[in-house]
Amino acid sequence: MIKVCIAGGTGWAGSALSKGVCEHPEMTLVSALSRTYKGKNLSDILQLDSEPIPVFEDIETALSETDFDVLVEYTKPNIAKTNILAALKKGKHVVVGTSGLTEADYKTIEQEAIKNHTSVLAVGNFAITVVLLQKFSEMAAKYISNFEIIDYAHEDKIDAPSGTARELAYRLSQVQKPNVFVGEDELIGEASSRGAKLNEVQVHSVRLPGHVISIESIFGLKDEKLSIRHDSGASAEPYVKGGLLAIEKVSSFTGLKRGLDSVMTF
Ligand SMILES: NC(=O)c1ccc[n+]([C@@H]2O[C@H](COP(=O)([O-])OP(=O)(O)OC[C@H]3O[C@@H](n4cnc5c(N)ncnc54)[C@H](OP(=O)(O)O)[C@@H]3O)[C@@H](O)[C@H]2O)c1
Repeated sequence: MIKVCIAGGTGWAGSALSKGVCEHPEMTLVSALSRTYKGKNLSDILQLDSEPIPVFEDIETALSETDFDVLVEYTKPNIAKTNILAALKKGKHVVVGTSGLTEADYKTIEQEAIKNHTSVLAVGNFAITVVLLQKFSEMAAKYISNFEIIDYAHEDKIDAPSGTARELAYRLSQVQKPNVFVGEDELIGEASSRGAKLNEVQVHSVRLPGHVISIESIFGLKDEKLSIRHDSGASAEPYVKGGLLAIEKVSSFTGLKRGLDSVMTF
């Protein structure tokens, strides 16, 4: 049995995963983190068919009050790094679903994981269809060195770009750096309208009501264009299967791995 604590177990993504963990024959959900529901029983809150699952306000209490193998981090970027580092210091494995952590954050996280002989699996998007988008985009970037990324989300998403967009920019940059046609110092007008540069890849974040979460990698060659796009629906269901796979696989290596495909076979 893999014992799991879900930081953010009452949230939109975390509550769907909490149900998934409780229904999994080889996993037990032993605790969760939420400030609003601290002291309550997650089993009652989500109407789960399980033993009582205590909800704590912070990671330190969860670490001292419950024994678990894997922490799933599904909260907010402002607290995620603190939770991850605290769990690593206690030798726990960590699955990161929270978006908004930077490359510098991941450097620190990787060092802490190695120091404590444990592991972190960070997945910008657990949906299998997004894993395919990443793979197809990497294939395209091998042949086309002109590409940018567009990340669409609902108006109240507080982090930009999304974790999916960050991860995609990182991955494409590992295939090859895109061409720059007009340098920053040559730009006339509003340079910021060209978007942010992540790992030398141009990323544009759209935040509007009516949008859920979408990601698009766009490629251009003379007289031809290619767009590879993924659109999420309204429920958190697509992220559950990938989340469970990440929990299952995270203890199989030491250090940091990025992306669900790093533990999948193709
Ligand atoms: N990787 C993926 O596939 C994937 C999929 C979906 C979402 N996400 C990312 O996952 C994160 C969560 O998204 P969501 O839509 O589920 O958010 P949400 O519905 O707002 O849930 C956030 C959860 O975290 C808890 N939380 C927030 N701050 C906390 C703190 N300081 N201490 C303890 N608990 C805290 C919240 O409880 P309280 O407010 O009661 O504390 C709640 O349970 C976001 O970064 C999102 O982008 C990733």
